[in-house]
Amino acid sequence: MTELINQADSDFDGLTLALSKGRILKETLPLLKNAGIELLEDPKESRKLIFPTTNPDVRVLILRASDVPTYVEHGAADVGVAGKDVLLEHGAKHVYELLDLQIAKCKLMTAGIKNAELPNRRLRIATKYVNVARAYFASRGQQVDIIKLYGAMELAPLVGLGDLIVDVVDTGNTLRANGLEPLEHICEVSSRLIVNQASYKRKFALLEPILDSFKQSVAG
Ligand code: ATP
Ligand code: PRP
Repeated sequence: MTELINQADSDFDGLTLALSKGRILKETLPLLKNAGIELLEDPKESRKLIFPTTNPDVRVLILRASDVPTYVEHGAADVGVAGKDVLLEHGAKHVYELLDLQIAKCKLMTAGIKNAELPNRRLRIATKYVNVARAYFASRGQQVDIIKLYGAMELAPLVGLGDLIVDVVDTGNTLRANGLEPLEHICEVSSRLIVNQASYKRKFALLEPILDSFKQSVAG
């Protein structure tokens, strides 16, 4: 019980891991298990946001995917797992990206209505990846207007909100189901292990065995 209280405490001086709910959590739990770390409660059954683990020196925060780099950058979490899409969008300049975990693989792409001709004017791009989209079109010398969305990008072109979208694509099923087609490939995406720069030095002894185990899991 003392351990549980300590792990939720603001004085906790162990290693704090930031994971996002959903697919990254699901795919990271087996890697943690290989490193001897298991959550003491099932996050699906709990409304908690801080999860103690079987390792009293490690606790897990469950966050929104796009918040993970922010927690790690500010040192509120020492380590995080985030998609390359999220890291590119965020900037994540002040964290070390230590390992490609090869999980949650997909691609960032542009997409539009199947067989539709694009209008002969400045294009409107609906996306939650506004920085990625701006940089991508700028690199091609194309000026575009960006419309910021928070989800369900596939809907936008169908109702005239934008000519194209920028989103992650895996099987392409979501695009197909909505009468859209993938167009240009922006980059490959997988999840990365990121570490706060100060924590990397100060908590290296705690971090090293986890890092080594993750490397072995990825290699295997
Ligand atoms: P948020 O809550 O911030 O909107 P999200 O809904 O995008 O996040 P997830 O859908 O769990 O969160 O995706 C987390 C990460 O998984 C993404 O940042 C991306 O790297 C990857 N991802 C997203 N969709 C897929 C997919 N269909 N297949 C594989 N990986 C994906
Ligand atoms: C993601 C993403 C796409 C979809 C792409 O959504 O936002 O909509 O996956 O995958 P596909 O090419 O295999 O169809 P997700 O399923 O995570 O739901 P979300 O809208 O909650 O992010």
